[in-house]
Amino acid sequence: MTKPLGTPLSPSATRVMLLGSGELGKEVLIALQRLGVETIAVDRYDNAPGHQVAHRAHTIAMTNGAQLKALIEAEKPDLVVPEIEAIATPMLQELEAAGVVRVVPNARAARLTMDREGIRRLAAETLGLPTSPYAFADTLEQLQAAIDGGIGYPCMVKPVMSSSGKGQSKLDGPDDVKKAWEYAQAGGRVGAGRVIVEGFIDFDYEITLLTVRAHAAPAVDGADGSTPANTGLTRPIDTHFCEPIGHVQVHGDYVESWQPCAMAPLALQRAQDIARAVTAALGGDGGCGIYGVELFVKGDAVWFSEVSPRPHDTGLVTLVTQWQNEFELHARAILGLPVDTSLRSPGASAVIYGGVEAKEIVFDGVAEALAVPGTELRLFGKPESFVRRRMGVALAHATAVEAARINAKTAASHVKPRRPLV
Ligand SMILES: Nc1ncnc2c1ncn2[C@@H]1O[C@H](COP(=O)(O)OP(=O)(O)OP(=O)(O)O)[C@@H](O)[C@H]1O
Ligand SMILES: [Mg+2]
Repeated sequence: MTKPLGTPLSPSATRVMLLGSGELGKEVLIALQRLGVETIAVDRYDNAPGHQVAHRAHTIAMTNGAQLKALIEAEKPDLVVPEIEAIATPMLQELEAAGVVRVVPNARAARLTMDREGIRRLAAETLGLPTSPYAFADTLEQLQAAIDGGIGYPCMVKPVMSSSGKGQSKLDGPDDVKKAWEYAQAGGRVGAGRVIVEGFIDFDYEITLLTVRAHAAPAVDGADGSTPANTGLTRPIDTHFCEPIGHVQVHGDYVESWQPCAMAPLALQRAQDIARAVTAALGGDGGCGIYGVELFVKGDAVWFSEVSPRPHDTGLVTLVTQWQNEFELHARAILGLPVDTSLRSPGASAVIYGGVEAKEIVFDGVAEALAVPGTELRLFGKPESFVRRRMGVALAHATAVEAARINAKTAASHVKPRRPLV
């Protein structure tokens, strides 16, 4: 940002628009609010978590370019922050190119990462990073040919446009191919279409490496009274790494995460090298903000899986483990401010699912959950619960990760979402 932070709801305000206002967007909005930023929360349904903590809330179809353009032109934000993948990113590219708005980290990164093909080709073919073997297919016949032609079994099939494991399946043999194809066609974000087939990586564990691109801190006044040099946006962009976050995924959705995740020194070095390369390629000349780089690890071997140019769900754990959580890091970085990625305490997170299909649910067991030592809860305030919808998260800090994991899971297990009594 070239202008100083101002006063919200006045002409001097710095205005930031979040596209996607779920639980991650809500925390980014809270971090921005704390810096006196004027916030605009956008989602596809009313009363989304982030809508509840922003200066203004809007409900639009974010995949509709015309609606997106009209809202951006009406609100005139200084920054647009995509918080989900399902956005009309070509329109963001158009508006960014026309100088109407700045997109975080930039519109190209948002576009490339919403499509598994864009990011996979960049990582594997342009940057030469290690990934699972892969191929793309537009028909069942092409899929079968790709598997027979070298990918083999087991393998994973995923729609190119999907997230949170939707439409994704593991194939153990030829009998699974047709079912996987049909499942992918039903689960893609934009309906039927292209799939990626990936060789299955038999990893020991997987991590998210939160990586922050941020402008270097300005020099501060020396004890000798010298004038600070190197201020303003000419400051170079540095890459910072958080401690690795370990996580467990069930059906492509994260259920548990912890930080720090112990890693062999060589594996950590390789993970950081991959994360630096992919975030630099996405960021280009600018591209400040946090990125969630997903990696598979086996011994000292590390494979790039995918990257989100935004806070990552597994990074919710940083709410209790870092001095500056991933949302604060994102807020600072996108505003051109310095960051500190250091760890405060080992900790863990455990997801609380809705477990019921109902609106206006209530949560039993909250006091029992918070009686577990070192725990906190985030209840997201989503207006409607589904059985597998993430409705909250339990967080625990402890002197060791193992204890934190147990406490987070125990706390989460106490929270029982249920229908309201009528
Ligand atoms: N090639 C692979 N080999 C082994 N496991 C895999 C592979 N691809 C995906 N997985 C497993 O499935 C999980 C989800 O895959 P991926 O991250 O590609 O999907 P996603 O829909 O983008 O999920 P999310 O949006 O939650 O990140 C991974 O975290 C990993 O546990
Ligand atoms: Mg993923």
